[in-house]
Amino acid sequence: MDNIPFLNKNKGIGSFFPYIATDAPKLKVHQSNFSPQNKLLFYTGRQAIKYVIEAIKKEKKITTIWLPEYYCQHVTAWIKNNYSNVKMYAVNPKNEQETINLLDFASDDDIVLINNFWGIDTCKINRGNKNSIIIEDHSHGWLSKSCKESRADYCIASLRKSAPVPLGGIAWRPNGKEIDSRVPITNDTSFLDIWNAILKGMKLKASYEESPVADETKKRTFLEIINREEQKMHNNLNLVPLMKQHEDIIEEYLRTDYLRIKQGHLEKIHTLIKPSKEFEVVKDIQPSFGLILFVDTERKMQKLRSYLITHHIYPSLLWPENNVGYGFYLNIHIDFRYNEITMAYICSILNGIGKNDLN
Ligand SMILES: Cc1ncc(COP(=O)(O)O)c(C=O)c1O
Repeated sequence: MDNIPFLNKNKGIGSFFPYIATDAPKLKVHQSNFSPQNKLLFYTGRQAIKYVIEAIKKEKKITTIWLPEYYCQHVTAWIKNNYSNVKMYAVNPKNEQETINLLDFASDDDIVLINNFWGIDTCKINRGNKNSIIIEDHSHGWLSKSCKESRADYCIASLRKSAPVPLGGIAWRPNGKEIDSRVPITNDTSFLDIWNAILKGMKLKASYEESPVADETKKRTFLEIINREEQKMHNNLNLVPLMKQHEDIIEEYLRTDYLRIKQGHLEKIHTLIKPSKEFEVVKDIQPSFGLILFVDTERKMQKLRSYLITHHIYPSLLWPENNVGYGFYLNIHIDFRYNEITMAYICSILNGIGKNDLN
């Protein structure tokens, strides 16, 4: 990486966050003023979804839980492992103005989960005469307009996608009501170990990135830790209590306006990026979760991903294991870790992609 002087030797662009203290100057630049009064915090977005479903079930008998057909594979699998009454409805992740028409599939005693794709989704719903309960997932749209101005019955988000917390999830009711607090929670304390292990992984990553020499054993260790802990979360279906000390830490990280930082980066990108015949940049009138690239085939996605990795950019595929008919979306991370020079570098790499690079 010697030819990229603005990147520390062991720093690539992307993947999970290295540890950064809550009082780091980078996190102080833009402060968030969004904190729903009646919010509840959790270890994960999945915990938040399950809690909300259980809270709804306290008030109403539920027939079907509808998930978007194109969605995070971890959430779909986890919800299906928890509930046997899950069905999928078709979506269009490319059309931020898409209206989800409840009349097409939902009934009064159903829950419909709506995903805010890339943070630019307007989350429009035609309820018709249906009294289905709407849960919006703003994991990729934390602090977006749709998130802050939501009119859904409930909202949730996984926070560790936007904030550098080891774990974090949130649920709130935009209508000002409280979320039912009678939901039974187990006394399973296994998330204490998961939190500590992920924190250790984040700290190892931070020290790997700062070191003048690339310690590949350290890198292997933190990658193993993260994968192992993800698996533990996947296998744990319990609703677990959030420990007070972790709640306080999540609260501290929530004081940063992560989207505002990305907005500045996206503005820079749009002045530099050239249209390409090889991939599409997903339109982002609102500041989005990241720089989202779309390609229609798996082969092109693999080629694009490899090309970017060769240039030290590690995009995430949102999401694997979905129906290939939806195409493939790669997210390039543009968060607080980066600056305008990094954005210029990303654009120069993307602008340099020629016909033969992805075929
Ligand atoms: C859109 C979306 N919602 C929710 C989640 C679940 O978040 P968590 O891993 O915090 O449970 C994820 C990713 O895992 C996601 O991509």
